[in-house]
Amino acid sequence: MAFLPIKPLLFGLLSLVFIFTIFYIDLTQATSIPSTIRKRNYKKNYYYAIELKDDSLTTLDDVAKLLDINHEGQIGALENHHLFSSEKELTDLLTSRSTDSTESEDSNDRVLVEYEKLKSKRHTSPSSLEKRSVNTIDNIVSVEKQKLRKRYKRVPIPTKKSINSRKESSNYSLLVSNITDPGFQYQWHLVNKVEKNNDINITDVWKEGITGKGVVAAIVDDGLDMYSEDLADNFYAEGSYDYNDQTALPQPRLDDDTHGTRCAGEIAAVKNDVCGVGIAPDVKIAGIRILSGAISDADEAEALNYKYQLNQIYSCSWGPPDDGQSAEGPKGLILKAMINGITNGRGGKGSLFVFASGNGASVGDNCNYDGYVNSIYTITVGAVDHTNSHPYYAEQCAALLVTAYSSGGGKYIYTTDVGKRNCTNSHGGTSAAAPIATGIYSLVLQIRPDLTWRDVQYLTLLSAVPFNLYESDWELTKAGRLFSYKWGYGKLDAYKIIQNAKTYKNLGSQVYLEMPIIKVNKKIPDTESGLKSTVKITQELLTNANFSRLEHITVTLNIQHTRRGDIEVNLISPNNITSKLGMTREYDEYNGGLSNWTFMTLKHWDESPIGEWTLQAKDRLNPHHTGTLQDWIIKFWGEEINSTTTTTSSVLSSTSTSSTSSTTIPVVATTTVSSTTTSATSATSATSSSTSTSSSPSSSPSNPVNVGLPITNVWVLTGIGMSIAFILVGCTYCACLIRKKCSKKGNGKFKKVFGGDDYQLVSSPSGDTTNGADDSIPLARGSKESFNAFGDTSDEDESTRVVFENAYMDDYMNEKVDNQNNSSEVVEQRQDGGSSGTLSIEPGRNTDNN
Ligand SMILES: *[C@@H]1O[C@H](CO)[C@@H](O)[C@H](O)[C@H]1NC(C)=O
Ligand SMILES: *[C@@H]1O[C@H](CO)[C@@H](O)[C@H](O)[C@H]1NC(C)=O
Ligand SMILES: *[C@@H]1O[C@H](CO)[C@@H](O)[C@H](O)[C@H]1NC(C)=O
Repeated sequence: MAFLPIKPLLFGLLSLVFIFTIFYIDLTQATSIPSTIRKRNYKKNYYYAIELKDDSLTTLDDVAKLLDINHEGQIGALENHHLFSSEKELTDLLTSRSTDSTESEDSNDRVLVEYEKLKSKRHTSPSSLEKRSVNTIDNIVSVEKQKLRKRYKRVPIPTKKSINSRKESSNYSLLVSNITDPGFQYQWHLVNKVEKNNDINITDVWKEGITGKGVVAAIVDDGLDMYSEDLADNFYAEGSYDYNDQTALPQPRLDDDTHGTRCAGEIAAVKNDVCGVGIAPDVKIAGIRILSGAISDADEAEALNYKYQLNQIYSCSWGPPDDGQSAEGPKGLILKAMINGITNGRGGKGSLFVFASGNGASVGDNCNYDGYVNSIYTITVGAVDHTNSHPYYAEQCAALLVTAYSSGGGKYIYTTDVGKRNCTNSHGGTSAAAPIATGIYSLVLQIRPDLTWRDVQYLTLLSAVPFNLYESDWELTKAGRLFSYKWGYGKLDAYKIIQNAKTYKNLGSQVYLEMPIIKVNKKIPDTESGLKSTVKITQELLTNANFSRLEHITVTLNIQHTRRGDIEVNLISPNNITSKLGMTREYDEYNGGLSNWTFMTLKHWDESPIGEWTLQAKDRLNPHHTGTLQDWIIKFWGEEINSTTTTTSSVLSSTSTSSTSSTTIPVVATTTVSSTTTSATSATSATSSSTSTSSSPSSSPSNPVNVGLPITNVWVLTGIGMSIAFILVGCTYCACLIRKKCSKKGNGKFKKVFGGDDYQLVSSPSGDTTNGADDSIPLARGSKESFNAFGDTSDEDESTRVVFENAYMDDYMNEKVDNQNNSSEVVEQRQDGGSSGTLSIEPGRNTDNN
């Protein structure tokens, strides 16, 4: 009986796999959220986003059969958009570019080629095809192969100034009595005792009990450390997902996976003794991890709508490169997801997408060249430093709505870091400004959950506080407000926006008036006045469009130019208000000009559109580079006449006075303010739509149940197998524990996660920081995502960080001691200098039970 010894062995192995599987699921899905998203394997498969006219089950099958591909499920919340996969062939796998397909590969792609072939056959000789195939081909709107792309963090720009920051902040004292965390005193953006009023003016808002209760904000970023004591209580697993590792929990897993946690801390750090406090200490915070690796458009589209009846605000501190030579924006699936978000998210009131304006100012970047930031659907947040100066990195543009505090002038944002009780004093960039806005919007939504995405923009515009009024950048808009490309309508003031929110009256539905394309096709002269082209808006046009009040203006144009960085584009209103849409960019050498690029301006909000609008294209730099303005389209967005907040589901009216036929634009937003869809029901539908067709939400890698086993002997053999497995697992684990090394292996300290809770504590760097080998404090590294342009971003001095941490911990200890006597009022002046001695703090050790 030769098979006998083989069988137990086999069973043993299978059981081992089984045990590991269980273990694996347990670890990666610690809070046992079933993943509704089918895992993607970009190494093994090609993926195709296919838009259909009708996506009923049989048609999905037909598409799969016709093109010999597998149906993977609906793409997020986008109806009629489905993902299909096809296994890569061996030859594809062998060519190195397999995961990063380029345009040229499209022409060799089996599925795309097959689809094109079928399509042309359908038109030339439909009779050669089956009826069913014809119907299927007709049902397909588009097939788009998915490519992996990386999105760029608006990374902090570290310098060596952190030491100063510590010394200065050491003079702070605590004013807000119920915050016992000494970290709070470093949070000058909350209460600035040095530069008075250079903060977000929040304390009286908290006193009113407005702390973000009942609101959920999602950080779309890299990892979010849900085990940080600052975030654990507010972490919202239900709204979270990891698109990089395709698991439920967006845990930091890479060395530089700190960005999302830091942003989350600014918003949602709970009131405890760890790292100060978030702006909305009672908000729920979800993490959607997309920046720790390349993702596809389908992933990003899903991420931007992820659980969008539950997640209300999406805080996005990322985008295309800030290198001063990119002009990229959301297209296709991603744009559809954004529009779907503002239309259907948050029960029809619209998801709030908060975006950082970008960190490319020092390389001449302008945020109107970032299509996320200049979208009318996003709230764009710029940065101001603690001295109210303009940080060298913060991008400006006509689409900038508002400004929030961030790093610059030697100070940073002090916030939570990855680790159970870790903090950082070096968060910054516009990356840190956007979450401040998100925090403030969390407070606003607590008292005014009925505000639509446009209401929040308008409320922001009405409440922003202009400052540095001596600066020549400020211009008076026709509506009598101050606007600056650097600051938008001013800085966010939590107290002011909350007071305004209390009485704010909702806007009516959104309408737009789009003018027909204006064909110019003239060379842009190298003169001061450049080339001008005009369009006239009459009252009649507005009336026909039911257009009452102007909000955003977008201009989409085509310019051929041998050097894109030379192009300047202005829009001049009938009232002689000029919006600089495109500014010159020193490093933009691209020779393809602008094709179908859309600029946006907020500067004409509430201005009357009636009269002649002039587009002015200039080309004053580099006379040997020339260009042609081909055509442009202007689109006015605004509020509907007489629309009241009680109208239900009024479909957005569009009026295109189009004389050319090609300018039909899909009808966009449906702003319904009165939608009473409850979260619960809409959540269900959102969930079910993302699962809709894939019957197996299997997220575990292998499923031993499917292996056919003879029923006899199963119990005995399984028993044996399990024992072996247990012993093996046990040994591995013990060995790991004994060596205490498991956490420090592999991808850094977050690989481990046995039980999910034994992170590195903030422990004991010896005062000697020169060895730099201690990895217990995650250091704020200049990230590899930072651009060449930022030069020395990588030498964030680690020693500073550690010294600071020690000093902070000194405080922490002193305060703990103090607190045993006088319990609440902490008005402690921290002594200067800190200690650089050895410190070993473990949570719990220094609390009262010693
Ligand atoms: C800050 O808020 C207070 C109320 O707490 C308000 O009176 C004051 O005007 C605000 N400060 C600024 C600079 O706007
Ligand atoms: C611009 O968009 C229009 C309509 O979407 C399209 O027909 C045209 O080809 C595009 N032009 C360029 C240069 O991409
Ligand atoms: C304008 O409003 C009227 C009345 O509500 C409606 O019948 C008409 O279709 C609207 N026009 C447009 C262009 O939306």
